[in-house]
Amino acid sequence: MSEIRFDGRVVVITGAGNGLGRTYARAFAERGAKVVVNDLGGLAKGGGQDPSVAQAVVDQITAAGGEAVANADSVEDGAKIVQCALDHFGRIDVVINNAGVLRDSVFHKMTDEDWDLLNRVHLQGAFRVTRAAWPHLRAQGFGRVVMTASGAGVYGNFGQANYAAAKLGLFGFAQTLAIEGRSRNVLVNTIAPVAASRLTETVLPKEVLEVLKPELVAPLVLLLSSETNSSTGQLFEVGGGCIARLRWQRSGALTYETGRGFTPEQLASDWAKLQSFAGADNPATVADSFALIGRHAGVNLQLTPQ
Ligand code: NAI
Repeated sequence: MSEIRFDGRVVVITGAGNGLGRTYARAFAERGAKVVVNDLGGLAKGGGQDPSVAQAVVDQITAAGGEAVANADSVEDGAKIVQCALDHFGRIDVVINNAGVLRDSVFHKMTDEDWDLLNRVHLQGAFRVTRAAWPHLRAQGFGRVVMTASGAGVYGNFGQANYAAAKLGLFGFAQTLAIEGRSRNVLVNTIAPVAASRLTETVLPKEVLEVLKPELVAPLVLLLSSETNSSTGQLFEVGGGCIARLRWQRSGALTYETGRGFTPEQLASDWAKLQSFAGADNPATVADSFALIGRHAGVNLQLTPQ
């Protein structure tokens, strides 16, 4: 296999001043990419601003012979970050939506600000950056986008209702972009990483953090961002040198006579079948989802975009 390189490619990485993003930035630059190191330089729980955070990563990259530019805009102003790529490097090829903050709180104490901040940074931030990049990726017939979700979004996690909602929102966002981008060779995938960083150093013990190096996440992000990659619309759990792909599983269906309907009591007595996953399959598209119902109901159930 030939070396995966990014010569001539321009990569925007949000939140690249620390943790995972910083590791990606160095790895892309080592392989020839021109990198926009975006970071607001704020606090882990949001708030604050420090342009020296992004600049420090750029200084490391340039000292190692790489090419990078610092950008300290918030992802909420995503168009400015993309404009920075265009102004400095004349193009944009890869977007790594990585910036993130945490504002954990049990749901009964969660404030509007806790909820809104997480949505603004994770979901709206990724939307703003990606929307600004999208026309360029489509027009040039090459683009790679990586979203950063989280196991907390996929499975739920105590005290993280705001984070979980935003993170799984990013996956839904990615799935539609994957469908819309495919014909223009714009591929969109999602990772749910685990790595030592300032976001995890307060919740994981030191000996665990030592094995969860961000360098063990970066190879997946680089592969997904490369010309070698042809996968899109996929979700991966990644960390500590372990990578797995996630997909949906649908249980065998309970089916009742369409004209007659059924009662909650009938459903209760059949409930164990749903719980057992007997006869399960793995739907991958809305068409797969609708086909099951359409087949049973004897109708051609298809969405027609208006
Ligand atoms: P980190 O705190 O080390 O890095 C996140 C960076 O994003 C920080 O440098 C921060 O200044 C920057 N940032 C925050 N708000 C910003 C904004 N509005 N505009 C631009 N930059 C902003 O955290 P880490 O762990 O490297 O996280 C990276 C991503 O991975 C985040 O999206 C996080 O939610 C996600 N993640 C991390 C996990 C882990 O185990 N470390 C687990 C699951 C998801």
